[in-house]
Amino acid sequence: MLSKETVLMKVLTVGGGAREHSIAAALKHGGAKIYACMKNKNPGIARLSEEFALVSETEIDAIVRYAKSRAVELAFVGPEAPLEAGLADALATSGISVAGPTKSAARIETSKRFMRELMERHSVPGRVRFLASDSMDEIKDWLDLNGCDVVVKPSGLTGGKGAKVYGEHLSSSDDVMGYCRDIIEKKLGGTGIAVLEERLQGEEFTLQGLCDGRRVIPTPAVQDHKRAYEGDSGPNTGGMGSYSDSDHLLPFLSKEHYDSALDIMRKTKEAMRAEGIDYRGILYGQFMLTREGPKVVEFNARFGDPEAMNVLSIIESSFLEMTEGMATGSLPGKCGFGQRATVCKYVVPEGYGTKPLSGEKIEVDEDAIKKSGAVLYYAAVNETDDGIFTTTSRSVGIVGLGGSIEEAEGQCERAISNVRGKVFVRHDIGKSDLIRKRIEHMCAIRGETNG
Ligand code: AMP
Ligand code: GLY
Repeated sequence: MLSKETVLMKVLTVGGGAREHSIAAALKHGGAKIYACMKNKNPGIARLSEEFALVSETEIDAIVRYAKSRAVELAFVGPEAPLEAGLADALATSGISVAGPTKSAARIETSKRFMRELMERHSVPGRVRFLASDSMDEIKDWLDLNGCDVVVKPSGLTGGKGAKVYGEHLSSSDDVMGYCRDIIEKKLGGTGIAVLEERLQGEEFTLQGLCDGRRVIPTPAVQDHKRAYEGDSGPNTGGMGSYSDSDHLLPFLSKEHYDSALDIMRKTKEAMRAEGIDYRGILYGQFMLTREGPKVVEFNARFGDPEAMNVLSIIESSFLEMTEGMATGSLPGKCGFGQRATVCKYVVPEGYGTKPLSGEKIEVDEDAIKKSGAVLYYAAVNETDDGIFTTTSRSVGIVGLGGSIEEAEGQCERAISNVRGKVFVRHDIGKSDLIRKRIEHMCAIRGETNG
């Protein structure tokens, strides 16, 4: 067992984005002393920590050495790359408890082939028709049988930008075959295995669970917005913003569908357990709510970014206790969240999604944001003696809170005007027009009229 004196527990956090800022803030609120490893100097994390080290997040040996030298007892890993590189395994070998899956368990995210085949082997509900292959002959035969209304993606990690969808990025079977050939020949995603999946239609949502090997404790459902520009147009990004509702469901998502998604997550965790995989950390389910209910788009082995900010801004239980529970196989039965809606919008550099303007100075009026009631999380910016500068990734996440999505959205907008520079925001996220479109889309998918 870890020390009961949680007030002084030293916790390592890995990652320098807004997701990790929200993780560090929640851990600190629970009484942790933060020791951070990050590649950029995130001013929010820097301020919360006793000490931080600027280091690449996949430099496993350097991170483990740092953690040991500071005698940290517990670690929370934010991004997927260090998990794939085996950071959780290396920390555990050094006697540090980790809320983050081992390299083998992280395959639920890092190998789409593993994830789809695992679900198949254990008949987990929410499955899709798929093929994972590096043979063009096999791919051609599968397409002849199943048609080309598919989504094609590399099996391995691509930073969320590897999926191509028929009808959007691909318009013929030649396009589909061409992208499969690219994946195989250029070894996209690292392994050169192409995954073809039936194209699902519906509304996407995220459900994140806390896992300790045995339990999956759910958090509120969230909807992210992947497209760079308003009206869901433009290139796919890591996520431009997200919202959650005060009842922890979404305006188009019923309790029954939320429960089906949670059941899929629990059965997936059971499938891993049956294969000897002890999954500890956050399990992130990306679902498509289809006419037949929720189906799995992907799993991630970590919190979503931005989705972490939605749930951690309203967590009522001690996140330090939850992290300790995940790491040591002793989660309590429930994690409490406030009955509040949240709207998170990302401020990103001009050009984000295509050619982001990095190295530009931004001005953040922290006092004005605090007064608005919204919560500010710094993302992939770099603080120097001269100020705060953009990198090629997202800059600042602002979370508005309220009794309704509308109220939370208003608070977020009032706060966001206090971030200035060569940046842009998707103002439509959380606004009633876009939410109405989501509901209407779901009604159309179900073949209902909206009434
Ligand atoms: P992924 O790389 O698996 O995270 O996919 C990125 C995005 O592509 C998802 O968020 C979906 O919008 C879309 N997508 C991926 N797989 C499917 C699928 N089987 N059906 C429909 N859309 C998908
Ligand atoms: N927001 C999507 C992700 O974190 O993968």
